[in-house]
Amino acid sequence: MSRFDGKTILITGGGSGLGRATAVRVAQEGANVVLVDVSEKGLEEARQDVLSEAPNVQILTVTADVSKEDDVAGYVGATMEKFGRIDGFFNNAGIEGKQNLTENFTNDEFQRVLAINLSGVFLGLEKVLPIMREQGSGAVVNTASVGGIRGVGNQSGYAAAKHGVVGLTRNSGIEYGEHGVRVNAIAPGAIWTPMVEGSMKQIDAENPRRAAEQFVQANPTKRYGEPHEIASVVAFLMSDDSTYVNAAVLPIDGGQSAKY
Ligand SMILES: NC(=O)c1ccc[n+]([C@@H]2O[C@H](COP(=O)([O-])OP(=O)(O)OC[C@H]3O[C@@H](n4cnc5c(N)ncnc54)[C@H](O)[C@@H]3O)[C@@H](O)[C@H]2O)c1
Repeated sequence: MSRFDGKTILITGGGSGLGRATAVRVAQEGANVVLVDVSEKGLEEARQDVLSEAPNVQILTVTADVSKEDDVAGYVGATMEKFGRIDGFFNNAGIEGKQNLTENFTNDEFQRVLAINLSGVFLGLEKVLPIMREQGSGAVVNTASVGGIRGVGNQSGYAAAKHGVVGLTRNSGIEYGEHGVRVNAIAPGAIWTPMVEGSMKQIDAENPRRAAEQFVQANPTKRYGEPHEIASVVAFLMSDDSTYVNAAVLPIDGGQSAKY
């Protein structure tokens, strides 16, 4: 018996990086998966990845923008229509935004990052939590960041949004615990995904590889995390191995956020 046999796991940002790796992981453990992303190409690649690892699971892909309320209602509705329940929700889609000092950040960019990284997470919670409350069970994992528990610099929008995700997580966790629903967050450090590759290009457009090597020296492990190292923890938080973990924010960062 696998941990996710017969369960439905809904994943935003499922077309790439952490979302895609988590889809593969939970599908390997028996889950049917719903993948949501703005990128149709990413969704198709993720579908192939999942099916090559777990040919017998059912997959639904939904193209949607998590910052748009109608799209969120659409992906939740499509999930319910196909599977009739949501056992786990990895509320994960996000962007980094343009790096800049606060005084140069611009309100437009600030609002853009908040719309996806914070409102997108709220809208997902707003529409999924009543379903889980009705079921009397369910586990949500929101994606925060080390940038949601520490200052990083040059990331006003990202920092505000990810600190906000931590707040939403604690707030919803204490609201829904009595209904058998858990809401936790992960705070990943630097995990090698297309987003972090893009970040290194922002830091040093001419030599992103050098920027990447320097950046990771601050980490106690002296290496980047890999998406599967996030997926295993997200799977744990969505499984019955973590039934007393609620409203928690878990760093997955090789110890970086503990460092003085
Ligand atoms: N990689 C890291 O080091 C790291 C660290 C901390 C937090 N995070 C967070 O993890 C999450 C996933 O990041 P990743 O590293 O896998 O990045 P990624 O770029 O590989 O994947 C993000 C996915 O989200 C999708 N997406 C972007 N905007 C969207 C929108 N409006 N609606 C729907 N989908 C959208 C993208 O198309 C992409 O497929 C993000 O919330 C990110 O902030 C990543």
